[in-house]
Amino acid sequence: MIERWDYLFSENIRDFEGYTIGKMLKYLKSPDIISFAAGMPSPDTFPKELIRKASDMILREDIGSVLQYSSIPGEDSLIEAIIDFLKMDNINIEKENILITSSGQHGLDITGRLFINPGDSIIIDRPTFSGALVAFQMERPRFVGVNIEDDGSNVNGFRDKIEESKKGLIPFPKFIYVVPDFQNPAGITMSLKKRESLLDLSYEYNIPILEDSPYRTLRYSGDSIPSLFALDQKREGTNVIGLYTFSKIFAPGIRLGFNIGHPRVVEKMTNIKEANVLNSPKWNQDLCTIFLRDTNLDEYFKKMQDYYGNKLELTLKSLDEYLGPLDNVSWTKPDGGFFLWITLPKGIDTMELFYRSVEEEKVAFVPGEVFYAENPEKNHLRFNFSYPKEEELKEGIRRLASCFKKHL
Ligand SMILES: Cc1ncc(COP(=O)(O)O)c(C=O)c1O
Repeated sequence: MIERWDYLFSENIRDFEGYTIGKMLKYLKSPDIISFAAGMPSPDTFPKELIRKASDMILREDIGSVLQYSSIPGEDSLIEAIIDFLKMDNINIEKENILITSSGQHGLDITGRLFINPGDSIIIDRPTFSGALVAFQMERPRFVGVNIEDDGSNVNGFRDKIEESKKGLIPFPKFIYVVPDFQNPAGITMSLKKRESLLDLSYEYNIPILEDSPYRTLRYSGDSIPSLFALDQKREGTNVIGLYTFSKIFAPGIRLGFNIGHPRVVEKMTNIKEANVLNSPKWNQDLCTIFLRDTNLDEYFKKMQDYYGNKLELTLKSLDEYLGPLDNVSWTKPDGGFFLWITLPKGIDTMELFYRSVEEEKVAFVPGEVFYAENPEKNHLRFNFSYPKEEELKEGIRRLASCFKKHL
């Protein structure tokens, strides 16, 4: 009988501990906790009636085929609807440029598998999306991180790292991973100037850019900045791979997204999808097609932007009121997305503070350290404002301030 299993596990997985945030969320079962930890959309924004009606219609008219295996790259009708949807964002692609995925996380996993050999280096921001870190970690890369700046990735810092690799200090980077719009976790948006310089860098060294864009349509203030993908197309390049999900703009339970890029990249990604999930559920794809085709998307996004924009405004007002008086506490002021990033005085460990704030004040957040691949900075935390109810935002921030006053 096998009693010890670990030595049998693959080297890729043996030391892999999974998703820290997922484990932390287990502490937050108690209903009296106000949680700013999860990265969830508010169910208030789900188009529930459309989903009810569309499901009903699909089941009545098409039950045989929605319960069947379906096309591996994705349903043609959804692909066509997405091609039209992306045109609204000045992205012009054909069918050969797109793969339907079973969520943004799946899109990240496929991309990691496609490019990373163990030990390959990949360039990321510090901090960056922890889900991308765990997805890529499965392939055991060497993460090369550079601290993000107020106007987005530190492109000169990326260049320095690439130059280091040319001197043989680190392996030559396989790709650069960024979340240019309202980054998870910091809420920072990359300026147009930096987007252009990042593309210059990518062309100069032939390093692809992964542009992860779950929040792009969720802008509450300021003018939209062209995506890296659109800028790359304008320059007739094909260096950018776009990763998208329906989780934040439709419903995460649907588990659908899409990757876009050069046809050869998409072809290889499709081979990987063949080997893991095979096909994404047709039922869910048909729901997304109906959503994209039958919704006035300008109105739909405007409603969502107003809804989340109000929550962000309330959050910023409460932060000013309760945290404003505290010394050496600051936070980012995002133009969209779901998150902002709070910085506490150096020396504070927000992982320790997490347990105290949950036990003593019944308020939760995500300790910033989980968003670093190596050498974490421990004095930050991620604050989610999309999910909590409006009344919880103010009260929760009051509780946070009370915890900080006690322990800073
Ligand atoms: C930057 C980023 N990428 C990808 C995802 C994955 O989204 P999902 O797997 O829910 O589609 C998320 C979700 O939080 C995210 O914030």
